[in-house]
Amino acid sequence: MGKREFVLGALCLLAVVQLSGNVRERPEAAQADASAALPAETKYIALTFDDGPRKGTTDRLLDGLRERGASATFFVVGERIEENKELLLRMQAEGHQVGNHTWSHARLQGSEEKTICQEVSQTQQALEALLGPGEYWLRPPYGKMDEQERKLVSVPMVQWSIDPRDWELKDTEKVVQAVLKEARPNAIILLHDIYPTSVDAALKIVDALQKEGYWFVTVKELLALNGIEAQPGVLYRSGDAKT
Ligand code: NI
Repeated sequence: MGKREFVLGALCLLAVVQLSGNVRERPEAAQADASAALPAETKYIALTFDDGPRKGTTDRLLDGLRERGASATFFVVGERIEENKELLLRMQAEGHQVGNHTWSHARLQGSEEKTICQEVSQTQQALEALLGPGEYWLRPPYGKMDEQERKLVSVPMVQWSIDPRDWELKDTEKVVQAVLKEARPNAIILLHDIYPTSVDAALKIVDALQKEGYWFVTVKELLALNGIEAQPGVLYRSGDAKT
């Protein structure tokens, strides 16, 4: 066991210890909910963005989300953090959730234990160095991990319930229609903030669903609003059920 592996192993353990001390942030909507009792038909939904950040698209998305008062979750690729520090700081400052999408967008399913730990820990470490200590939830690239592999992960994991395959369509209207057709309360929508068409689609989706009474919240908020206490190593697909 080399020094580097030991350090990474120690980091994995550290992340577990930090779980218990983490304070959940509640969305403003939830705070208002608690005191003023919003109507029963309040609907929550979560937009998630993978593979970024990317200058020119992510910043435009952040502008649009801010104008609309919508929160989102960004699962970022570790090796993109250094050159996009400002975008990440903005995400945090503007109330979005920042998550881990591995260091090099590695397929974790079928990977060696050492690789999984390294891909996750290295990104966690970079996020902590920039944004401060915290729990950075994981979205495994391609959304899958085997039972044994999940046990290595010390944070909750997020899949999705709506996937319009925006990376393949690269067509704003088709992506919007694919998402709106499937939209329902507590859904988790998968998009990629590295494509201009996906950014345009995301903002149109927010406009359309806000008119229908939806609130856009982070995944962490979505689960908390549904009374789900997110557990490490568990893969969540929506705010409806425990997994
Ligand atoms: Ni990805």
